[in-house]
Amino acid sequence: DDLIAYAQALPKAELHLHIEGSLEPEMLFKLAQRNKVDIPFKSVEEIRAAYEFSNLQDFLDIYYQGMNVLRTEEDFFDLTMAYLNRARADNVRHAEIFFDPQGHTERGVSFDTAISGIVTALSMAKAQFGMTAKLIMCFLRHLPEEDAFKTLEQAENWLDRIEGVGLDSSEVGHPPSKFERVFKAARERGLKTVAHAGEEGPPDYVHEALDLLAVDRLDHGNRSLEDDALTARLAKEEMTLTVCPLSNLKLCVVDAMTAHPLKRMLDLDLRATVNSDDPSYFGGYVSDNFKAVIEALPLTREDVKTLAKNSFLGSFLSEGEKRAQL
Ligand code: HPA
Ligand code: ZN
Repeated sequence: DDLIAYAQALPKAELHLHIEGSLEPEMLFKLAQRNKVDIPFKSVEEIRAAYEFSNLQDFLDIYYQGMNVLRTEEDFFDLTMAYLNRARADNVRHAEIFFDPQGHTERGVSFDTAISGIVTALSMAKAQFGMTAKLIMCFLRHLPEEDAFKTLEQAENWLDRIEGVGLDSSEVGHPPSKFERVFKAARERGLKTVAHAGEEGPPDYVHEALDLLAVDRLDHGNRSLEDDALTARLAKEEMTLTVCPLSNLKLCVVDAMTAHPLKRMLDLDLRATVNSDDPSYFGGYVSDNFKAVIEALPLTREDVKTLAKNSFLGSFLSEGEKRAQL
């Protein structure tokens, strides 16, 4: 109990959060009515009951269906503001937020509509309560690399407000190598790079993310532990892993929270962090994720402190900004 309260009170950064995955059933229902979008659910309870997944694809099908209610700039603003307020309650001082432009442009909502609403909320949170945030746009890996290039083009006028690019959606069958050229183009524009790897995909995909995409940070990375040489390399290179415990449980990446590799990662000197991924779908925000691992794993007070410290070290804040937080 003590350790859970300690984790809640510590200043933290969140580094793995899909803004579309913070769409709570209540807001989904409200936006469906506001925008007159048909949804196959009659109540908030029915929506919540549909959130049972046996793998990543199960979840993605519902996740893409859910974001269909996001239509206007105001919708993206409301969504982002709700997340920032909720994260603030968990003492999240800085957030690096993913969004999926292709999840919107492919249904006729423009890149500009989505990003305008998001960045307005980010500015307001900074002004109102001093919370800082950076934006990372993800490419959907189940789509062709050519579509990712089009998305990078749409981002051209927004590059001063985009920190980096990421890679998400269906992992197996869509290795990082498929996106080597567009990641190179992103780096040439001064963008940071991250990628989901080793969530369901094999350790080889983690190697590819490092060697072919030159990622600055690794999202999930769980399956790296199957490869000892890779694990040693990640420790040596101080590569940050954005681990998402409740997500891993809900998507059956782990069989039980007691089997979660987070404690092992810390003992292996990996720079692991705790994040919520898609909090509305997976059952909780950052503090809920800390609570879940503290209850299931033999984490010490020192471990919890390290996890919070790692979240700032692994962030894209400047060295000076990091020092101010640590
Ligand atoms: N993995 C892959 N794609 C995603 C995820 C995830 O956990 N969340 C949203 N898109
Ligand atoms: Zn994710």
